[in-house]
Amino acid sequence: MSHKDVIQSDSYLKKHKGVIFLSRLTTPECIDSLENLEIRDSDLFLVTFPKSGTVWSQQIVSLILNEGHRKGTEDIDNMVRAPWIEYNIYNIDFNTRPDPRLFTSHLPHYLMPKDLRNMRGKIIYVYRNPKDVLVSFYHFQKILVLSQHPESWEHCMDLFMSGEVLGGSWFDHIRDWYTNKKDYNILFMAYEEMKKDLRSAIMKICSFLDKKLDDEEVDIIVEKSTFENMKDDPLANYTFLSEDICDGSKGSFLRKGTIGDWKNLMTVAQSEMFDRVLQERMKDLPIKFIWDID
Ligand code: A3P
Repeated sequence: MSHKDVIQSDSYLKKHKGVIFLSRLTTPECIDSLENLEIRDSDLFLVTFPKSGTVWSQQIVSLILNEGHRKGTEDIDNMVRAPWIEYNIYNIDFNTRPDPRLFTSHLPHYLMPKDLRNMRGKIIYVYRNPKDVLVSFYHFQKILVLSQHPESWEHCMDLFMSGEVLGGSWFDHIRDWYTNKKDYNILFMAYEEMKKDLRSAIMKICSFLDKKLDDEEVDIIVEKSTFENMKDDPLANYTFLSEDICDGSKGSFLRKGTIGDWKNLMTVAQSEMFDRVLQERMKDLPIKFIWDID
């Protein structure tokens, strides 16, 4: 089956302006309408390619904004605290949300609200070693009801390399955001740096947000954002998603939460091929990936 056929035959996925999205949860019209979303200076966006640590950053940042507590929002899940702009499945009225508004998105910069380009609002872009993104995505597809399961690991990798998966091309996504960063108030954070030193990562985000927290508040956020604690937190572990979106009997959103799980699935030849493509696609991008530094 060719790549084109996969998108055409998977009635759950749709391609629009270079982005592949879940067609049961949004429409091209909704995505197009977002460029006119009015932005406030206090708005904060979490932007990621799927499977890069999105729900983890939702937990961290929403706790930072609430000084480690839930302040009357104890029973509200993270999907309400940091809704996806392109997948507004709860029909939240963004305009009536109190400041500071926290949003999530997987969109490329050219489909984001235009106002953000005028240095209004702030963006935290979280990225992750694409080999781990791919492996996480492969497992995620088993639980995601709203997409077809890959025929095989090899097939999944093939689709990922050619950008024919949910979210589109990882390579284009990071390039698009990185090369346009001067237009935004944006902080780039690596999943790996969050994993290696969560406290320092939280402090870095606080500094970007001009948020002063005392040591005790930071301790609480670290504690509530560890993989183990988030996995048990029903407001953060995404078990609240309905069964027609995710089939919890087939696996968890919070699966392993580790660095380097790709080594358990990729052959040496696949890894070398991936490295070649990554090098080729990123060669002119002046970004030093943390996983290359180690
Ligand atoms: P794995 O499948 O490798 O375990 P996203 O939220 O963008 O869909 O990303 C999901 C990935 O982030 C999953 O990776 C998930 O386990 C991981 N993750 C979620 N919360 C985490 C946490 N607190 N610490 C580390 N990884 C976390």
